[in-house]
Amino acid sequence: MVLEVREVNKVYGQGETAVNALKDVTFSVKKGEFVLVGGSSGSGKTTLLNMIGLLDRPTKGKILIDGIDTSSLSDNQISSFRNSKLGFVFQSSNLISDLTVLENVVLSRKIQRTDENALEEAIKLLKSVGLENQMNKYANKISGGQAQRVAICRALINKPSIVLADEPTGNLDSISAETMIQLLKSMNRKLGQTFIVVTHDREQFGEVDKVITVKDGRISEDKGMEVPVKV
Ligand SMILES: Nc1ncnc2c1ncn2[C@@H]1O[C@H](COP(=O)(O)OP(=O)(O)O)[C@@H](O)[C@H]1O
Ligand SMILES: [Mg+2]
Repeated sequence: MVLEVREVNKVYGQGETAVNALKDVTFSVKKGEFVLVGGSSGSGKTTLLNMIGLLDRPTKGKILIDGIDTSSLSDNQISSFRNSKLGFVFQSSNLISDLTVLENVVLSRKIQRTDENALEEAIKLLKSVGLENQMNKYANKISGGQAQRVAICRALINKPSIVLADEPTGNLDSISAETMIQLLKSMNRKLGQTFIVVTHDREQFGEVDKVITVKDGRISEDKGMEVPVKV
């Protein structure tokens, strides 16, 4: 298991105004799985992703990544653990606009070892998302769809155990969104990369390994199969 979420609860605030954003959430993810997280607005999807991404701590319960209980790590240990084990793609790409596309990816390299390979690795990734002709452009001179593809490369450059994406197609037109989805799925297959993706648009993704639906802070799980067409 690359991820184990065990009885995770998250309460925001205290007393009368407390919000129980996650209630006894338990599930696990195997290496190489493509997992979608769905549910309506305010159901707790981002809170769940923030817990898994070690951006915030659960009020109760445990998150294990690669078998390591992250609740036992100090805040300092958590940041270096996050840098080496997790990659993030958000709704907006947040590229550094006065750097080139290639520089944005190279400079996201956080693992110290074998850094002479960072440039080579970044070029390979950018080619694999079809951006070989955009690498030397400044990041503010490319389209939103292209910027999200750069964001995928930036998330993958550290070879993370899990890539977490929170509505990565949320700001894209339907054609760019479709390209993005196909790229995420092909990275999953080609690299055996584990993905956990929050989306409003479950149908667009087609068949996946698992779908987790969040409703009012509780989850239900199903196999991410498309309903077979009856003949
Ligand atoms: N930092 C916060 N402080 C207080 N309440 C929050 C905070 N973040 C989220 N919430 C509340 O937790 C619930 C789940 O929010 P969120 O995880 O953002 O849902 P989703 O991503 O599914 O739209 C909502 O009721 C939201 O208002
Ligand atoms: Mg959200």
